[in-house]
Formats: sequence, C-alpha cells, structure tokens
Amino acid sequence: MTQFSAAQTPAPQQAVSDSSKALYGGKSNRRVTVRDLIAAKERGEKWPMLTAYDAMTASVFDEAGVPVLLVGDSMGNCHLGYDTTVPVTLDEMTMLSAAVVRGTSRALVVGDLPFGSYQEGPVQALRSATRLVKEAGVGAVKLEGGERSLAQTELLVQSGIPVMSHLGLTPQSVNTMGYRVQGRGDEDAHRLLRDAKAAQDAGAFALVLELVPAELAAEVSRSLHIPTVGIGAGPECDAQVLVYTDMMGLTSGKMPRFVKQYADLRAQMVRAAQEFSEEVVGGTFPREEHSFH
Ligand code: KIV
Repeated sequence: MTQFSAAQTPAPQQAVSDSSKALYGGKSNRRVTVRDLIAAKERGEKWPMLTAYDAMTASVFDEAGVPVLLVGDSMGNCHLGYDTTVPVTLDEMTMLSAAVVRGTSRALVVGDLPFGSYQEGPVQALRSATRLVKEAGVGAVKLEGGERSLAQTELLVQSGIPVMSHLGLTPQSVNTMGYRVQGRGDEDAHRLLRDAKAAQDAGAFALVLELVPAELAAEVSRSLHIPTVGIGAGPECDAQVLVYTDMMGLTSGKMPRFVKQYADLRAQMVRAAQEFSEEVVGGTFPREEHSFH
C-alpha cells in the first residue's frame, strides 16, 4: 500500500460466497456468531476457517466469505520468524488480532491464547482473554488442552467469552509431545474422546482436532453437539482449518501431508520482486505513465 492508496478498511460488502451463505443466514451485513456455527452443525453444514495475521489478508478472506478467521499462534512460525509457536506473546497476539478485526466486517475472529498466558490457571486465562476481547475486539478465544484446561474454559465461558478448544497435536506442547499424529491406540483414543467431551461440558463452542486419525475424528464429531474443526483429521469433521500461508503456497520447504496448496503466491511474489528489481536496474521503471509533471 502506498501513502496515496485507500485506507485499509474492511472490503466493501460483496456477495457472500455460496459456501458461506447459509452461515450468514443469507445476510452479509453482520458478523458470524458462535451460535451460527453450532446451528450449522445441527443442519449438517460444513464451514471453512483460515488463519490470518494482518488486516490486509483478513480483508481478502472476509471478501471471499470465509466465515471464521483464526489469529493462530502459528503467527510465530508463519509471520514473526520464530521456530515454534512457543515464543508468541500476549502483546503480539493482541496487536495482530486487533489488525485482523479491523480488516473484517463479517468473519468471526478467534484469537489464540499464547503459551504462558493461561496455563497458570483460570484467573490468568480470564485476564489474558479479557485483553483479547477488549483491546483487540475478538469474538472468541482458543486454548489448547481438554481436561487440563477445563477450569480455564469454564471460567471464560461463565464470564461471557466463547472458547474454542484444541486437542490432538497441541503445538504449544511441542517440547514434550513433538510433531506426530495423536490418538493412535485405544488408550490415547479414549483419552482424546474424554478430553473432547470434557471441553464440550465445560462450555466450549467448537473443538479443533489437529493431526488425529480420521476414524477417531469422525467418532469425536459424531459424539459431540459442538462442531469439530479438523486439520489433518480427515473429512468427517464439521469444519476444516488450514494455515493460510501453507494453503496459499507462501511457506517454503516441505508441506505436511494434510495441506492442500490452492495457490502459488511465493513463486508469484518472487517473480514480481525480481521483475521490479530488473526494471529499476535497467531503467525501464518508472515510465512516463507513472510520472507527474
Ligand atoms: O495456531 C494455529 O494456526 C492453529 C491452527 C493450526 C488450528 O492452532
């Protein structure tokens, strides 16, 4: 954006894509709510969620009709240059969540509670979530863990803050868990099912299932009345999420198997940057039509 381009405001209201029409109840002039998402499950409708970390990208996804945007702590790896999600701070999460909220007018924006901002207990969780709601304007927060985060989920929900839980691979525990499929084997599968029900009973409105065998994710999805949001958890989840830098082809290196790449933005951006550089060096940009007299 140049200093002369339009202010970064939410995109003008455009037709909502067919895939999201039902979620908006046919209207495109209000934000999606957690009640819409639970109602979608009752109707058997699936919905998409993407991550976003800035106002510009968020406005593109809002214009595309993506009904839920997650300001994931994947911002650590995808946006801030950290190796994992662990270093992400609540200040960083608050600032980028506020940008995503400013870039949208229709999507429900979910802010991730970063590592260290809720593990101490419910009071710490409430303090952190309150910042995301009041300072950034998010409509819901996400936290990792089932039974281990129950007290936090209960207090947040009782306080009026919708909570999305996150089970299976929980990247904030990478130092104890590593990056591998979770819930394989009877004992682990039963534990995950228990955790899922506990999260629902504590009041969570949705549940992310990351890197979980498809059969187990299907069973969890059938057992709950709240929607499951799968990532590497097979096709039977009620919703699907992808990290936007992966699915847009911005991330370099080998992609996990569960990622489908829908665009090749990295290659396009590299080409555009090279072309610009060559034209500047060669004196062919700017031309007359780019100049003022
Ligand atoms: O931080 C994130 O992007 C996430 C998704 C992978 C669900 O937690």
